[in-house]
Amino acid sequence: MGLLLIFFCSLLVIYLMLWLTQRWRDLNFFKRLGIPGPEPSFITGNIFAARWSMDNVGECISKWRKEYGDAFGYYWGTVPHIMLSDLDLVKEVLVSDFNSYRNRNNQLSTQYPEFSMALQGLKDEEWKQVRSILTPVFTLSKMKHLSKFMADCTERLREVLENSREKNESINIHELFARFTSEIISMTALATETHPIKNPLDWFYVNVTKMFQGTMNSVTMLAIYFPLIGPLIAYLTPFTPFGRIKGSIRKKLVSEISRRKTWRPSIPDLVQLMLEARESDKEKLTFYLSDNHVIASSIFVLLGGYETTSNALAYTAYCLAVFPEIQDKLYDEIKESFPDGKVDLGRIHHIKYLDQVINETLRIFPPSPSFRREVTVDEAKLGPYRLPRDTVIEINVFGIHHDPNIWPDPWKFDPSRFELESKLKHHPMAWLPFGAGPRNCIGTRFALNEIKICLSKLLLQYRFIPSDKTESFPPKLDMLPATRVEPRHGLWIKLEKREDIN
Ligand code: HEM
Repeated sequence: MGLLLIFFCSLLVIYLMLWLTQRWRDLNFFKRLGIPGPEPSFITGNIFAARWSMDNVGECISKWRKEYGDAFGYYWGTVPHIMLSDLDLVKEVLVSDFNSYRNRNNQLSTQYPEFSMALQGLKDEEWKQVRSILTPVFTLSKMKHLSKFMADCTERLREVLENSREKNESINIHELFARFTSEIISMTALATETHPIKNPLDWFYVNVTKMFQGTMNSVTMLAIYFPLIGPLIAYLTPFTPFGRIKGSIRKKLVSEISRRKTWRPSIPDLVQLMLEARESDKEKLTFYLSDNHVIASSIFVLLGGYETTSNALAYTAYCLAVFPEIQDKLYDEIKESFPDGKVDLGRIHHIKYLDQVINETLRIFPPSPSFRREVTVDEAKLGPYRLPRDTVIEINVFGIHHDPNIWPDPWKFDPSRFELESKLKHHPMAWLPFGAGPRNCIGTRFALNEIKICLSKLLLQYRFIPSDKTESFPPKLDMLPATRVEPRHGLWIKLEKREDIN
């Protein structure tokens, strides 16, 4: 017993010494590079301060930016991050010197090894191959197949909204649109039929919501503070809510892929499109997309495409409710494009003002307030700095979108900023909701298709109006770095039926 105790104590001491040495090295990283930044805590780096010292991380990041400039260093647990807001340097990272920064760092991969098989997490040549196989899956012509799913879901959403309208109820559209996009993603990317639009207690929706809460749970935070225990945490992950749900989604996808060997759905969903894409260019490519790549990409499409799109939809509807003159102008344009009241999916992408309104919403409320890349060469030259391999660069999307020198009067909701002439005057990196360069968001068309179909169909029949629960603009926000911008109290509106519908 005594020997066992001595053995465990020695292990603990060795672990602590390793941790202290590694930590000391990490904490001097920015000092060595000459990059300014806030002083980190020895245990938690800066993330703890960012989460708790201010109202939200966004405010803290903006305070640091004022103090330390457009390229400063802070520590996410043990991992040093360079927060970048300088547009020319951002362009270097995302576009001009892309090959030096083409991978994405994500601390999720310690806990969720599948991440490294998904498009978001793949690295170097393997990412390039998989991206080139999957790019045709997301073309406009392929998206047309999926529009049918989106239109059907919108009709179910309308029925729920109509029910609330009849009762003159306020609706938390932040929650309702989450149910809407989760139904679309489960049907299109996970080959799973679910019904959260009509049933808020639907098992898939309830569990996916838990899963999202799980991505930033205390286990994840532990892995961030103490990376050396990452393998142990990876072992325990299947027992967390995230792990359990991911496990059941995975099981479903394995059996679905096997079924698709002899059966093809009449309307191809994303799983089908991915399976067909891997067969179509077989001769040209040196790489074969495995079932595991398809499964991991489907699961991480859920992570990348569900909350982002629902937030974009909810903020747009909220803005239209609080700015009625903008809603009227948008309605006139939609009505002019579809005079018979029927949304034509071919013409939906030609309604300029719809683009402007969505773009301005994504500027003020970018669903991904920041995103990350890492240095993929031995030494990258970024402006005055020399950055070693694996250095994490975080692009400060929220900060750039709210910089008064880039966007004057940044909290003013003004879709005219995206009129063609004004758009041309902007720096190409001034608007980054979907990232930029070769590794930008592959689901941009999917998301915009979904948002446009849903908004056009609803606006042709209803007017969005504020209710007594609607917060004045802008609503109070909560923000976590590299994850999302959430409305603290939800987003509430009411609906009024338009008299002039056909
Ligand atoms: C409004 C909705 C969305 C927003 C704001 C958004 C935003 C982003 C951002 C900022 C990135 C990182 C870009 C970069 O590193 O340059 C990204 C990557 C990605 N997004 Fe989206 N996204 C949205 C919807 C979607 C949807 C609907 C899907 C799938 C159907 C999707 C799938 C992906 C994937 C797979 C990647 C990784 C691409 C790669 O690494 O090659 N996203 N997204």
